[in-house]
Amino acid sequence: MQGTLDLPELITFLLCVAILIEPIRRYGNFTRLYQEGIAGFERFMEVLEVQPDIQDAENAIEPEIIQGNISFQNVSFQYRQDSGHVFNNLSLDIKAGEFVALVGSSGIGKTTLCSLIPRFYEVNAGEIRLDSTNIKEIRLEALRRNIGLVQQDVYLFAGTVADNIRYGNVNASDAEIVAAAKKANAHDFIMALPNGYNTDIGQRGVKLSGGQKQRLSIARVFLKDPPMLIFDEATSALDNESEKAIQASLEQLANDRTTIVIAHRLSTVRNAQRIVVLTEEGIDEQGTHDELIALGGTYANLYNMQLSL
Ligand SMILES: Nc1ncnc2c1ncn2[C@@H]1O[C@H](COP(=O)(O)OP(=O)(O)OP(=O)(O)O)[C@@H](O)[C@H]1O
Ligand SMILES: [Mg+2]
Repeated sequence: MQGTLDLPELITFLLCVAILIEPIRRYGNFTRLYQEGIAGFERFMEVLEVQPDIQDAENAIEPEIIQGNISFQNVSFQYRQDSGHVFNNLSLDIKAGEFVALVGSSGIGKTTLCSLIPRFYEVNAGEIRLDSTNIKEIRLEALRRNIGLVQQDVYLFAGTVADNIRYGNVNASDAEIVAAAKKANAHDFIMALPNGYNTDIGQRGVKLSGGQKQRLSIARVFLKDPPMLIFDEATSALDNESEKAIQASLEQLANDRTTIVIAHRLSTVRNAQRIVVLTEEGIDEQGTHDELIALGGTYANLYNMQLSL
């Protein structure tokens, strides 16, 4: 019968189809990969071409000596044009060497206020002065070199413990790293890690607790030894040992430098020379612990609330 396949022909046909399907599938795969690759490459080039928002002014200067007087003058700030102001017309003077605690409810803008000093964001109005120079006129690198930062959520990168501390000063010797870790009360827990200072931390390395991470971050600042310190206390609960160790090293760290602590712990607040209370309206109250308790305002309320927890 014409037009029908006998068995050998059918098998030959099926074999041919099987052989042909693979190259077609490969071709399909290749075009898909090619398109994805090109799209990824274009995006990569776009990202490389983005200019940072915040750059040095043309005539930016590098101050020879930084004392650490920080002055917010009528500062307004909002993250985006369509979002509300975090601050409006806020003024605050911090003298060189002073220890100031910043308190206020969650989301009020404490971290934001502090991130304006190293110019992570640009103020929308008003200005911030460092020893009477507008920070916009100071070279960014010089400005940030003079500020030590301990963040609320510490960022550690993949690498060893020593590498992570050395981030505070890339030229530091091993002995200096150990000395900084000791001052930060981190030496003992580091020595207890599998490989001590050479222990790998990060994605595949050992996991550190929040308090241990903050202590590494404090060691970085000891190594950097800047005239100004911004310390954003972790909001999450720390283990008892970490809390005491951090409190002790903070007191040592604050010696002889302008220190702003975003304080979540009563022990820190009580030690401050001045407490600045931030509310929706801006700076609501300022004074020592005793003065503010006597005033019976926002701080006294916050304090009593924490006591009752
Ligand atoms: N990167 C950002 N982009 C847009 N909005 C932000 C950003 N960071 C913070 N905000 C908003 O700005 C306001 C202030 O936030 P901020 O983190 O300064 O508060 P906080 O006082 O530090 O709070 P907490 O005590 O919980 O740390 C909040 O309303 C927050 O949602
Ligand atoms: Mg915060």
